[in-house]
Amino acid sequence: MLALVAMRSIVPMINPRDFLTQLLYPYDSFTALRTDFGPVSYNERARFWEVFEYDDVLRVASEHETFSSDGSKFAAHPEEFTKGQSILTTDPPRHRQLRSLVSQAFTPRAIASIAPRIAAITHNLLDQVAEQGSMDIIADLSYPLPVIVISELLGVPSEDRARFKRWSDDIVFSEYDDLSSGNLEEYNERVRITVRRTLDELYDYFRVVLAERRLQPRQDLVSELLAAQIEGQSLSEAEILAFCTLLLIAGNITTTNLIGNALLCFDEQPEVMDQLAKSPELLPQAIEEVLRYRSPALLVGRYATREVELHGQTIPTGQMVIGWISSANFDPCAFPQPEVFDITRTPNRHLAFGHGIHFCLGAPLARLEAKIALGILLERFQQIRRKRDQPVETIHSAFILGPKHCPVTFKA
Ligand code: HEM
Repeated sequence: MLALVAMRSIVPMINPRDFLTQLLYPYDSFTALRTDFGPVSYNERARFWEVFEYDDVLRVASEHETFSSDGSKFAAHPEEFTKGQSILTTDPPRHRQLRSLVSQAFTPRAIASIAPRIAAITHNLLDQVAEQGSMDIIADLSYPLPVIVISELLGVPSEDRARFKRWSDDIVFSEYDDLSSGNLEEYNERVRITVRRTLDELYDYFRVVLAERRLQPRQDLVSELLAAQIEGQSLSEAEILAFCTLLLIAGNITTTNLIGNALLCFDEQPEVMDQLAKSPELLPQAIEEVLRYRSPALLVGRYATREVELHGQTIPTGQMVIGWISSANFDPCAFPQPEVFDITRTPNRHLAFGHGIHFCLGAPLARLEAKIALGILLERFQQIRRKRDQPVETIHSAFILGPKHCPVTFKA
C-alpha cells in the first residue's frame, strides 16, 4: 500500500508535484520528469530526494539497511511518530516480527479460500445495477468490493463503510488543488491537522472494536492480533491500532484504483476488452500490465541511514528519499516500448507492489479481487464502454492514481 496511511501520518509534509493534481497520462508525466530532472534529484520545495529510474527505485525500496522505512529515527520530533507506526514504517528486526504475525492470513493459499465470497459480493453489487444499463465502476463496484472484503477479514461491520471511505480519503487525498498557489508551510500544517484528526477518529473506532474482541474473541484478524505474541509479549495497543488502520486503508483504496485503472486501460483499446471477455484466462496477465501502466500506488518513501551516492549525487544521512514507482515502471531500460499498454507483456517485473521486505502484503488479495471482479463484470455485461461525454477526472493525491468516477454503459 500505498506508501500510504503510515507515511502520510508521519510525513504529511510530502509535497506532490503540481501535475499530480490531474494525472491523466502517467507515461507522459513521468517521462517528462525523468527527462527534466535526471535519474536522481533534490526537490528543494518539498525537501526530499526523488529517484526516477527502475534500478534505483528497486534499490530504494529494497535495501532497507541503507534506506530505512522508519522516519522516527531521523525526526526532530520523534513523539510525532508514536501514532501510525506499523509494519510499513518499521525496520528489521521489529518489521520481521510484526509481519510474521499477519503474513499467514495473506498468503495466496489463505486468500484463495475467500474467492467464493469475493465472487458472491461482486454478483450482489452487479445485480443492483444490471437493469440500469449503466453504472459508475468506482461507486458501484470497485469501492464497495474491497472495503467489504477487508472489513470482513478484520471483523468490523462493512455497513460502516461510508465512514471508512471518509477516513481513507482524508488520509490519502487532500486539497491539493490549492497547493500551487498556497504557502507550503501552511499547506503542510493543514494536512497535519487533517491527518491527526482522522487518525484520532479511526483509533477511537478501533479501540471500541478491540474492547469488544477482548471480551469475546471471534474468528477475525482483530482477535488474532490481540492474541498474538512475539517472544512471549503481546502487541501494544498502539501497534494493533496502527495495524488495523493500515489494513483498513491499504486494503481498500489501492484495490479500488486498480479496478478503476483497469477499466480506463481496457477502454482505450476496446478490442482488448472484447478479447478479455472471450478469453478470461488472459486477465491475470492483463492486470499485471494495468499495475505497470497505471500503478495505483505511485511511490515508496524512505530515509537514508548513511550518506549514499546515487548517479553522482550524494544523499546525506537522514534525508527523505522518494522512489517513484510509476516512473520506474516506464523506464525503457526495464520495459521495451514502455508507452505501449500490452496485455501480453512478458516478463513484466513492475514495481507496483514495491520490492523486498516491504513488498505489499495484500498483493495476492488485490490480484484476486481484481481478477474476480473484472472477470464477472466481463462475463455478465457486454459492450462495456466508458461514457465519452464525461471527462475522466483523477483523484488528487501524491500517493495514489485512479479515476474519481468511471461511468460506463453496457448491455446486460
Ligand atoms: C505495502 C501497493 C493492496 C496491505 C505496499 C507497498 C506498495 C503497495 C507499493 C510497499 C510500500 C513500501 O515499500 O514502502 C499496493 C497496491 C495495491 C495494494 C498497488 C492494490 C492494487 C493492498 C491490500 C492490502 C495491502 C489489499 C491489505 C489487505 C499492505 C501492507 C503493506 C503494503 C500491510 C506493508 C508491508 C510491509 O511493510 O511489510 N503495498 N498495495 N495492500 N501493502 Fe499494499
